[in-house]
Amino acid sequence: MKITVIGRGKVGGGLADRWEQAGHTVTRVGRDGGDSSDADVVLVAVPSGQIAAALGKVYGLAGKVAIDATNPFAGRDETFESLSHEVKSIIGGPVAKAFNTNFADLYDQINEQRVRPSNLYASEDGARAATEQLIRDAGYDPVYVGGLDQAGALEDHLAGLEATIARSGLGRFFYRYAKPGELKRPKGRSSRARPRVAPYRHPGLSVLRMVDQAPPAPPRTTPSLSIVKVAPAPRSGS
Ligand SMILES: NC(=O)c1ccc[n+]([C@@H]2O[C@H](COP(=O)([O-])OP(=O)(O)OC[C@H]3O[C@@H](n4cnc5c(N)ncnc54)[C@H](OP(=O)(O)O)[C@@H]3O)[C@@H](O)[C@H]2O)c1
Repeated sequence: MKITVIGRGKVGGGLADRWEQAGHTVTRVGRDGGDSSDADVVLVAVPSGQIAAALGKVYGLAGKVAIDATNPFAGRDETFESLSHEVKSIIGGPVAKAFNTNFADLYDQINEQRVRPSNLYASEDGARAATEQLIRDAGYDPVYVGGLDQAGALEDHLAGLEATIARSGLGRFFYRYAKPGELKRPKGRSSRARPRVAPYRHPGLSVLRMVDQAPPAPPRTTPSLSIVKVAPAPRSGS
């Protein structure tokens, strides 16, 4: 895909890097503007109060598929239902809201995660396929939340609950929405942590051998609290 990224900061620059690594051709546009005529998709990643100014300096935008990643931390034009609707009013093509609920500081840790983090997005039908592909190519799994009427909810979600969670101690975080079953352990791994204790001797008690199939652990010299069942110690000689 040919992508024009408007805004060369953490989000724009970070996603441009990841998309290039995935094989896309990316043009990075800053305050001087540029030409997006050959773009298949345009990413808007500037402070919310700069949307109109930034897009106003880019040629060839009309009718393009746009992904809006902005959040309302730098003001917003309240005449629009959401920041994505403002983007839509300027570009005119199908628009999606995506990447606004994912922390850019963590882009370089996506590949290290055990499962793909989720990426909530709202989209008009004409932008869905491209947005889903670019979410995947950035390393996330897309989670569709509905049409562009949900864009404001995603903006509020980030500015509200997610910011509160981050401030309350978790810091920047990944999240994962999963259908029941998706988070199941791989076959062969028990869902219950079975006690893994070796027999040990104690005056008057002996601990029954474990039922676990795992290889026996080395003998312990101190008793653990993982005693599962007790029986009288056999008398010597019997
Ligand atoms: N950081 C995050 O984790 C995160 C996550 C999701 C969404 N967002 C949202 O994504 C947007 C970008 O955030 P960011 O973290 O990437 O911010 P950032 O690192 O500060 O980058 C913003 C970029 O926008 C450029 N810019 C500002 N005004 C412009 C204009 N009039 N024309 C063209 N470019 C302009 C800036 O250029 P200069 O360098 O020349 O100032 C800068 O390169 C914001 O709306 C933010 O709320 C951020």
